[in-house]
Amino acid sequence: MFSIRDWRKTRSSLLGGGLLLAAALLVILPLQTVEGGVQQLESAVESSSAPNQSDAGKSLYERLGGYDAISAVVDDFAAKLFEDPRIAQFFRGMGDDTRQQFRQKNKNLVCNVTGGPCKIISRPAKTIHAGLGITETEFNIVVQHLVDTLDKFQVPAAEKSELLEIIGSLKPDIVEEN
Ligand code: HEM
Repeated sequence: MFSIRDWRKTRSSLLGGGLLLAAALLVILPLQTVEGGVQQLESAVESSSAPNQSDAGKSLYERLGGYDAISAVVDDFAAKLFEDPRIAQFFRGMGDDTRQQFRQKNKNLVCNVTGGPCKIISRPAKTIHAGLGITETEFNIVVQHLVDTLDKFQVPAAEKSELLEIIGSLKPDIVEEN
């Protein structure tokens, strides 16, 4: 199998305390070319200053609400992806079982990279998406769906920002075309 480094190698150095916000801005600012919603990415970063005292020391996984909350977020997010005609061509031909596996792999991934107890059961991001010819615009559409889902679930700005930083750091492994 492969290690989590395969998935988050591009972000591993970003996890240090003081560098976190600056790095998040570096990763997220390029996403601002997306239509609509980009301001939300930026404001999520800006307003994520003071963590709740009772959350001190808790992993992002815990602050997101644990596995059940992550599972609900991924289900909602995946439904948006499958329904969006702008990216439908990528998911055409995926049957119910394959979609179920897609959701489960994403749940395990998010659970793992946020500090939860799950094992990663998907292949490395670069391997999975190689040859799909995903553009930056399409990547940003997917990120925007995640933002919309996190807003729907009223995920606080700090947690939203941290998760978006992690997902945003995968961009170089996923985007192949402009
Ligand atoms: C935004 C960050 C993204 C993450 C975290 C992510 C995550 C994943 C995961 C965990 C899988 C399952 C891997 C496996 O089967 O082992 C997957 C597969 C897939 N993703 Fe992504 N993905 C992202 C972006 C995108 C984008 C932007 C697109 C297209 C617009 C896309 C299209 C696909 C497709 C078509 C598959 C199925 C590939 C296959 O089974 O051959 N993904 N992704």
